Amino acid sequence: MTADERQRRAPLAAAMRAYGEAGVLAFHTPGHKQGAGTHALLRELVTEAGLREEVSLMEGLDDLHEPTGCIEEAQELAAALYGADAAFFAVNGTTGAIHAMLAAALSPGDAVLVPRNVHRSVFGGLVLADARPVYIEPIVDEEIGLAHGLSTEAVREACRLHPEAKALLLVSPTYYGVASDVRAIAEIVHEAGMALLVDEAHGAHLAFSDDLPESAIAAGADLVAQSTHKLLGAMTQASLLLLREGRIEKERVQRAMSLLTTTSPNYLLLASLDIARLQMAEAGAAHLARAVGLAQKLRREVNATPGLFSFGEERMGGAGAFALDPLKLTVTVTGLGLTGAEAAHILRHEHKIEAELFDAQNVLFLLTYADTEESAGRLLAALRSLAQSRPAQAAPPAAAAVASAAPDGRKAQAAVRLPAAPPVAIPPREAFYRSSVPCRLREAAGRIAQETIAFYPPGIPVICTGEVFTAEVCRYIEAMAAAGLKVTGAADASLRTLRVIADEAGNEK
Ligand SMILES: Cc1ncc(COP(=O)(O)O)c(C=O)c1O
Repeated sequence: MTADERQRRAPLAAAMRAYGEAGVLAFHTPGHKQGAGTHALLRELVTEAGLREEVSLMEGLDDLHEPTGCIEEAQELAAALYGADAAFFAVNGTTGAIHAMLAAALSPGDAVLVPRNVHRSVFGGLVLADARPVYIEPIVDEEIGLAHGLSTEAVREACRLHPEAKALLLVSPTYYGVASDVRAIAEIVHEAGMALLVDEAHGAHLAFSDDLPESAIAAGADLVAQSTHKLLGAMTQASLLLLREGRIEKERVQRAMSLLTTTSPNYLLLASLDIARLQMAEAGAAHLARAVGLAQKLRREVNATPGLFSFGEERMGGAGAFALDPLKLTVTVTGLGLTGAEAAHILRHEHKIEAELFDAQNVLFLLTYADTEESAGRLLAALRSLAQSRPAQAAPPAAAAVASAAPDGRKAQAAVRLPAAPPVAIPPREAFYRSSVPCRLREAAGRIAQETIAFYPPGIPVICTGEVFTAEVCRYIEAMAAAGLKVTGAADASLRTLRVIADEAGNEK
C-alpha cells in the first residue's frame, strides 16, 4: 500500500467498527455494555452505532499507553501527515498535551522561557513539572488592544540572559491568529542549546495551506501541542502532541503522556482524531483553500463597512506579529461606539450569531473548513446591520486609553501602563502547595501572590503566582478594577481582596 493509500484509511475507527459488528457478548466495561443499558436520552445523543463502538481495551483495540496495533498505526499516520517524527493522541485537550510537553522536556527546577501572555494551561504545566519560568514580554498592538507573539530580538536577549534555560515555550499563533517567526525563533533557541516547545492550540490546520502561517513542526519546533478539536474536525477534548526527534526522546514523551492520561481513554474521542486526520488527508488542501477564500472576502467586506475594522496582513511582518491566520477574523467595533461585549451581545440576541470571544475593543469570529458562502454571508449581513444601526464614530482611541469590557456596557478609561514583571519569590509549584489567605489590595505590597491575575485587554498577567506585589502592581490593579476591565485568575472578582501566601503560622501577616 502506498503512503497515500494508507492515509485514506482510519485504522482505529475501522478496528472499533469491526469490534462493534463482531457480535461479541460484552462482559467488560463500559457498564452500558455497548449501549444495551443506555438511557434513551444518551442513546439519542450518541446514537446506537456510537454506543456499540464506545468500547475499551478489548482485543484488537490496542492500548493508548503502550500502542502496538491500530492506535500505533493511527498515530503514525497523523505524524506522517503533519510531517512529525511521532504523534501522540491526547484526550484531555491541548491542556493535557501542554502539561505532558513540559513534563517531557524539563526536569524539576529547570528554567524555561515563557511569554507572559500564555494560556492558563501553561501555568498548570509549570506546577506539575516544577519548572522555573523566565517570562518574556510579548509585543502589544495598543491600537487594537491585543498582545501578539514574541520578537526574535526578545527571544535572543532572553537566551543570552538565561543560558541555563532548557527550553522556550512559544504560543503561535495566538488566539487572534497572529503567528511569530517560528522558524527564526527555532534557530535562535537551538543555537542556545534549548528545545522549542510550541503551544499551537490554534494551529492544527496550518499544515494544509500555503496561505496560512507555516506550521511549527515544519518550522523546526521540537514538540508541538495542537487542538485538533478547535479548527479541524475532531471532537472537543481531542488534541495532538507532535514530536520532532533529536532533542527530546520519544520514550520520554510517551512516559509523560501516560503519566497524565486516564487508563480509560474514550475511544470516540480517539477515533475522532483518526477521522479528522483522514478528512484532512482526503481533502484538507481543498477545504482550507475554500475557507481562506471566504475569510479573505469577508475581511475585505468588513473593512468596507463604515465603523468596522478587521486587521490583516498589513499589520504583519514586524516583531512578534510575523504572519496572520486569515481564518481568525477580529472585528474592532469601537468605531461604532461599542465595546466588544456590547457588539457580541447584540449579535447573539438580535442576529443569532455567536462569536468565539470578545474583548474590550474586538469580537473574534472563527472561520473553519466547515464554513460556507451561506454562513459567511449571514455573518456579514449581521455585521452590516450592526454597523448601520450605529452612527460611525471617530477612530478608536489609541495607546493606553482603553474602553471597558464590562458586559453591562459601562465605559471607563484607564490610562495606566502595565508595570514591569514583579520580582519572583518562589516558583509556581511551591506557590501552589503553600496555603494562602485573602489580603486587602491596599495591603498587598510586599506579599507573595498565589493567583495569576490578568486584565483584558491586553491579557498579559500583571502578577503571576509566586511573584511579589509591588506598589506599582497594586496601583495598576486598582486602576483596572475601577475601569471595570475583565479580570481573570482572581478568586475575588471584585478585587477587594487578593490571595497571598500565608506566613509559616498560616496567618495573614
Ligand atoms: C493558546 C491556548 N493554548 C492552550 C489552550 C488549551 O486548549 P484545550 O482547550 O484544547 O485544552 C487554549 C484554549 O483555549 C488556548 O487558547
